[in-house]
Amino acid sequence: MQQFGVIGLSVMGKNLALNVRNSGFSVSGYSIDKPEVDAFAEYQDEKLLPTYSLAEFVNSLEKPRKILIQIAAGKPVDETLQKLLPLLDKGDIILDGGNSNFHDTNRRFHEMEAHGIHFIGMGVSGGEEGALNGPALMPGGDEAAYREVAPILEAIAAKTPQGRPCVSFIGPEGSGHYVKMVHNGIEYGIMQEFSEVYDLLRKVAGKSNAEMSKIFADWNQGLVQAYLSEITSEVLKQKDDLTADDVIDHILNVASYKGTGNWMLEDGVHLGAPISVIAEAVLARFMSKATTREGQEITWNGEVPNGLIDNLGKALQLGQAVAYAQGFQQLKMAADAYHWDLRYPAIAQDWEAGCIIRSSMLEDIENAFADGKQLDNLFQDAYFKGLMQKNLPALRAVIELATKAGIPTPTLSAALNYLESIFNPSLPANLIQGQRDYFGAHTYYRNDREGIFHTEWYEEK
Ligand code: 6PG
Repeated sequence: MQQFGVIGLSVMGKNLALNVRNSGFSVSGYSIDKPEVDAFAEYQDEKLLPTYSLAEFVNSLEKPRKILIQIAAGKPVDETLQKLLPLLDKGDIILDGGNSNFHDTNRRFHEMEAHGIHFIGMGVSGGEEGALNGPALMPGGDEAAYREVAPILEAIAAKTPQGRPCVSFIGPEGSGHYVKMVHNGIEYGIMQEFSEVYDLLRKVAGKSNAEMSKIFADWNQGLVQAYLSEITSEVLKQKDDLTADDVIDHILNVASYKGTGNWMLEDGVHLGAPISVIAEAVLARFMSKATTREGQEITWNGEVPNGLIDNLGKALQLGQAVAYAQGFQQLKMAADAYHWDLRYPAIAQDWEAGCIIRSSMLEDIENAFADGKQLDNLFQDAYFKGLMQKNLPALRAVIELATKAGIPTPTLSAALNYLESIFNPSLPANLIQGQRDYFGAHTYYRNDREGIFHTEWYEEK
């Protein structure tokens, strides 16, 4: 009898199954796509079993069965669940490792619960390579069921530099997929920040691809120790297969998306979360498609200020911190609204290795939330407040220069505006309240006494 089963054997499912086998557990694999099973069968050994029907697959598993569904999110997951249900026994555990929408996971959690099946919606990050060698895992659902699969998940997960597994029980219902969605929103935010810094490096600082590659590699050892620094450096130095140029200069500048970052923005709007960097990153992808491209190329004829590269590194470091801060702020608001008890240090730890947004800063975030510390925003923590004070002049200088040069910096500007606002005691929303009360008698609160007020702004004729 096999200890674990995987449904869906395209690259993610196959690699996760191989990871389970390589971690010492026996695994069965099944796919509706026969050629995928045939390809999987090439790895067959005493711990790895290909199966060609759902019944054969289910019957090959020890009870309670532990089944990971790793297929395209959406309708296929519901169809697979409907086919699986008659074959399962009460107490079996299903994990959905796709990028499912958390609303779907909430629904499926309760539907499966009604059948006595434990459902775990699990965010998986790290792409193909991570799936094989150690992904970051964000499982949410039924905690008792999680404990049953924890030994396998801990074995296959990425490990932090201290050797701790990048997996923890997130919380009930769809909270695991929610945390993955927030991970992806942060991913969009930080990626857009990188692209804005790249734009300033090439257009204002006049750096070549090779020079920029080196700058990002240096930051990866210093200011921004992050997977995204590492791969940015690699992307910038890659030669093209089809021409003698660098491939970056021939990649069309239209950003695609499957939309998990957009979902974070949707729920952020629902919750009223001030996630400006994520919002601007989503919109920047839209703009990359919507721009007419009729304008002139931007060229900078002004001086290149001293210390520009250092300022850009510091701006990126602080911008990255703001993207994380906004992610954790939304998580906190979601936890309150949906009655989830989220453990922020554990979530930070889950992201320290294996996933796309991994960086050394996540350990600082873990420390900021340690010992049950409740922060309305990350910059209330002494370390991050210090970082803000240290890097704010650089971020301001970068935005000033970009404005002069006419280079758009939607996410870096949003990061700056966020920081200029979060501790500001006198934002001008009093005027908005006055206007609302004027045209619609919407009433307002006062800053000097309790109660709800309305002013008779004008005489009715
Ligand atoms: C990950 C990634 C992964 C995927 C993104 C890409 O954590 O491994 O986030 O889930 O690469 O979904 O998203 P877009 O296609 O929306 O950019």
